[in-house]
Amino acid sequence: MDYIFRILRFDPKKDQDPYFQDFSYESEEKKSVLEALMDIRNDQDSTISFRYSCREAICGSCAIVINGNFDLACRTDLESLRSPLVVIEPLPNLEIQKDLVVDMDPFWEALQKIEPYLHSEKIESSQGHLVDDRDMDRIFQFVNCIMCGCCYAACPVASRDERYLGPAALAKLYRFVRDPRDIRPFADLSRVNTEGGVWGCDTIFECNKACPKDVRPADGIVALRKKLVIEKIKRLFRLGR
Ligand code: SF4
Ligand code: SF4
Ligand code: FES
Repeated sequence: MDYIFRILRFDPKKDQDPYFQDFSYESEEKKSVLEALMDIRNDQDSTISFRYSCREAICGSCAIVINGNFDLACRTDLESLRSPLVVIEPLPNLEIQKDLVVDMDPFWEALQKIEPYLHSEKIESSQGHLVDDRDMDRIFQFVNCIMCGCCYAACPVASRDERYLGPAALAKLYRFVRDPRDIRPFADLSRVNTEGGVWGCDTIFECNKACPKDVRPADGIVALRKKLVIEKIKRLFRLGR
């Protein structure tokens, strides 16, 4: 089948503004969007920049916007687009470093703020820290996050308020809060009991729609809110006694 790839180009060293460039692409075989981009780069223009690594929907680095939808280039079959025109854009709301490569620093900085790793007790047992299957089931949805940044790029609040931690970081925090091995004190949650944290979210769920791994990060934000409200009620109840 014949395709036109309309790719957003921008090199801040020489271009005033981003622009679209069209490339003809023909493929008889089944190809992913990432494979097509690699073919175009190899055969037509070696200056096109884009990120990728695993090619297996695991590393999250190939996240882009394809015909208006957030997705991973490596797991999107060209045929599934059902369109001879394939419009490729970088993730929005993040500074373009070159073509489809964006500056992910704001995303990583937000994640770092929630300390995205297990705060566990020292384990003496040689069996490690066994976790009940039901506990794992509760957080499995959030464990699936591959940190691609689609949700962050789609989030209208993250795009206008640099204080806002964004969906991936908040969902990741919930993943650890619900992990029975994590011993971080509840007081730690006060850091997200703010407009830059869970109360900044507009609950329009753009992040859930954008996530290519069905993490539904806004579910984690809503659950964190509930937890904060319940803890507040408990505290008031204790004070009243
Ligand atoms: S639901 Fe919240 S986190 Fe998700 S896109 Fe909307 S504002 Fe952002
Ligand atoms: S929650 Fe989904 S969209 Fe957001 S970073 Fe994780 S995998 Fe990507
Ligand atoms: S290349 Fe790793 S997720 Fe696509």
